[in-house]
Amino acid sequence: MVTQRILFVTSEIFPLIKTGGLADVSGSLPLALRTLDQDVRVFLPAYRDVVESLDGLNTCAGFRAGDDNITLLEGRLPGSDITIWLLHHPRFVDRHGNPYVDGEGVAWADTAERFTLFARAVVEVAMNRAGLDWQPTVVHCNDWQSGLVPALLALEHQRPATLFTIHNLAYQGIFPRATFEALRLPERLWALDAVEFHDQFSFIKGGLAFSDRINTVSPNYAEEIKSAEFGCGLDGLITQQQHRLSGILNGIDEQQWNPATDPHLTHHYSLTEPDNKALNKAELQRTFNLPEEADTPLFSLIGRLVPQKGIDLLLALFAEFVEMPVQLVMLGSGEHEYEQRLTHWANRFPDKIAVQIGYDESLSHRIEAGADIFLMPSRFEPCGLNQMYSQRYGTVPIVCGVGGLADTVVDVLPAALDDHSATGIVFKEPSSGALLEAIKRALLLYHQPALWQQIQQAGMTRDFSWQHSAEQYLTLYQSALDDRIAPL
Ligand code: ADP
Ligand code: GLC
Repeated sequence: MVTQRILFVTSEIFPLIKTGGLADVSGSLPLALRTLDQDVRVFLPAYRDVVESLDGLNTCAGFRAGDDNITLLEGRLPGSDITIWLLHHPRFVDRHGNPYVDGEGVAWADTAERFTLFARAVVEVAMNRAGLDWQPTVVHCNDWQSGLVPALLALEHQRPATLFTIHNLAYQGIFPRATFEALRLPERLWALDAVEFHDQFSFIKGGLAFSDRINTVSPNYAEEIKSAEFGCGLDGLITQQQHRLSGILNGIDEQQWNPATDPHLTHHYSLTEPDNKALNKAELQRTFNLPEEADTPLFSLIGRLVPQKGIDLLLALFAEFVEMPVQLVMLGSGEHEYEQRLTHWANRFPDKIAVQIGYDESLSHRIEAGADIFLMPSRFEPCGLNQMYSQRYGTVPIVCGVGGLADTVVDVLPAALDDHSATGIVFKEPSSGALLEAIKRALLLYHQPALWQQIQQAGMTRDFSWQHSAEQYLTLYQSALDDRIAPL
């Protein structure tokens, strides 16, 4: 196998800094590439919280990027021998908290400046001008925060190949034209086939227009984004670039997410010894102050509380839901209105509905272990990780059949029940009615223990490891190398 030198560029990585699934992927795909003997190094901003939590950091380089003096810190991704380079600059180390928004959920005012600086620094490393004596063969960029990297590299000769992974097309990094000008980016990038988007400045277009290869995190989402319904205004460009586009399903970190060894659980269980799942359920009910009833189906939801996740579909059926013999626990944070409405229902029906607003890694594991059913009624979902975690934990997912959810959950249709492949309930339309029907289908199955166990076991048996997907990434890196776009 050819060893590539891969610079993996990301704005978040588990366990150092996480707002969503991008962090999980960044924390596990490089490890999988490492086991395939690849030389992979991670590039991340030196956010204050990361610098404070990571031991053994050394200063490894100092250089100029644009008008800025940059210092690079070098460390290791916790629990691995993977080198991680941190872009150290006041714009990143000057503040605690979320990388993108302040405590009120408002985007940091200098977001465009931050991620332009980030891209400029990546380019210096990618071109081996940072004094590291290491040049990648491939630069793997992720989401709009690294979108300017392929655009700036397109201006260079003898550059590495570039891959741009779309984790979510809905987040594009759009800023006013004046910001583009203030940043003194090369003028030739201001064009419709570059970063201009309806007279605004689009970071993601830099990745889409200039990368040698583009991929998304599931094959189904790669198809969907060619349509106006899922293309977020970029379906034209995506369709034009489709010869460079593919979909590779995310894997999961099977060390972190394993009910037999999960350090967040007091009661471990597995496919062959599943009994302790019931103890996790009882504990979860106690945690959320719900009646400790072993036979009441316990539904769950974890996620960012944003329109993507179909929270409104769930809210719209609560009046009927509370009439059923069910319980629901939820963990999430996001839009204020959703937080308030969920809290309102939990206050009205404390024996049925419970919610914790906030972010809690440990509780998310305990929910996956203790719940019977996991709800993921997303309107769109590039891949989605929780439906995979759920299957591994014997927690049957109910999902809307979009994006990666359709690729990873096998619906309980008669044929799939017959051949024991069914792992969850998939509903077609993103509507409250369809979700309610799916919940009712789940309840019917839940009360047939043999069938329910069969569905749980089918989920727990599935292979969601990174191995296969990491091999697909290697093939993709090679095709990016073989088929580089000519310099601008
Ligand atoms: P997205 O990236 O769109 O948010 P994913 O399903 O890919 O969706 O990944 C979400 C990740 O973030 C999962 O690991 C999930 O457990 C985690 N997560 C989301 N919200 C919370 C929360 N409030 N507390 C703990 N973990 C959360
Ligand atoms: C995004 C998507 C999610 C995906 C994750 C990791 O945040 O919303 O579907 O699983 O990225 O690729």
